Amino acid sequence: MSSTEIVGALRRIKEKGESLEYANPRSRRALLHEAKALVTALEPAQDAVLRLLINQPTLIVSIIIAVNSGFFHALVNDGDDPKTVESLAKKIGAEPAFLARIARHLATETLIVETNSSDYAPNAASHLLRSPPMEGMAISMLEAMTPAIMHVPSFFRKTGYKNPTGRTPFQDALNIDEPVFKWALRPENLRLAKSFRVALTVKDGGARWYNTLPVEEILGRLTDPAAILLVDVGGNVGNDLIGLRKTHPSLPGRLILQDLPASIAMLNKDDLHPIEAMRHDFFTPQPVVGAKAYFLKTILHDWNDEKSRLILENLKSAMKPGYSKILINDVVIPNRGAGWYDCSQDILMMLGHGAQERSEEDWRSLIEGIGMQIRKIWDVAGASEKLIEVELA
Ligand SMILES: C[S@@+](CC[C@H](N)C(=O)[O-])C[C@H]1O[C@@H](n2cnc3c(N)ncnc32)[C@H](O)[C@@H]1O
Repeated sequence: MSSTEIVGALRRIKEKGESLEYANPRSRRALLHEAKALVTALEPAQDAVLRLLINQPTLIVSIIIAVNSGFFHALVNDGDDPKTVESLAKKIGAEPAFLARIARHLATETLIVETNSSDYAPNAASHLLRSPPMEGMAISMLEAMTPAIMHVPSFFRKTGYKNPTGRTPFQDALNIDEPVFKWALRPENLRLAKSFRVALTVKDGGARWYNTLPVEEILGRLTDPAAILLVDVGGNVGNDLIGLRKTHPSLPGRLILQDLPASIAMLNKDDLHPIEAMRHDFFTPQPVVGAKAYFLKTILHDWNDEKSRLILENLKSAMKPGYSKILINDVVIPNRGAGWYDCSQDILMMLGHGAQERSEEDWRSLIEGIGMQIRKIWDVAGASEKLIEVELA
């Protein structure tokens, strides 16, 4: 790239920086995009490519070792002062020479700070990686998905480089036929299921629709407090219902959390109160008839169109005409300029579920294909996951 182009990139950074709305993720992403364009312009292509080919996979190794050994806890627990590799190794029961290699690698990606030749201090990333949600994300992503990723070369050579329609790379790697979520709920996979549950709070930066959108305009205000306001279908631990209740405590109406029996069995019902937990397989008829709204957060992106139609049909049959709606809180992938979050989720959905993230046209064709209509697609503070309001046609 020429110096004229670099000056152009710097100018755009200045412009975007001056108009930055820091609290708005979209505005921050736009500035970051320009900053990355500058890095791309300055970094030799060979370095950039080698960083992806060599550093990205090996960084997974260093992160998972650091997470599983308790390295981030040891680094953060007694304050942010620098610690020697020897003292950290002693705390976690590792060999100092081994840990030194992991620590210096983590420092290259600023996940920790190298303060001296063998001293390290935590930074914001180290604190995050020691928090239960991000630890859960590391375990559920890196440990659970690694077998599928390792299987990618032979899988796509065998199937001919096309979207998986039968067994997914994940299922093929593990030689299983059940969907990932049922496999994850097997007793022997409890560690992965628990990690995934805590990781759910950090998806897409944790942007929540009920924090920014006009909730009463979307849900209405029920006059009968015994009526059902929202059914969270496949709601896992109920993060969205808990958050909605906390943010809007005076909203009348019952809140119901549904998930597979093994997932519901892991909940502490007393902690959830007044939210009601219910065992329900969304491929069977919806037992809660005539709720004001049925909520599907990052559910349909786990399923191909055929399975998604079945899930939606079961809700459609339970809806009261002119009253009930479905709220889909999922990625709407742009036709141009999709970000890393959308694209990486899309590949994960392909590997794990034989599914995909959907564009606005994909959503419209899925929903209109079963005789329903999209009333509005709400932007949730610039997050990738939008709120799609669906009603009977
Ligand atoms: C990607 S998670 C989303 C969880 C939650 N909606 C959220 O975004 O935090 C998918 C959820 O679907 C649930 N699930 C998978 N298959 C199901 C089925 N057949 N019936 C009901 N829930 C199911 C899983 O147990 C899991 O909690």
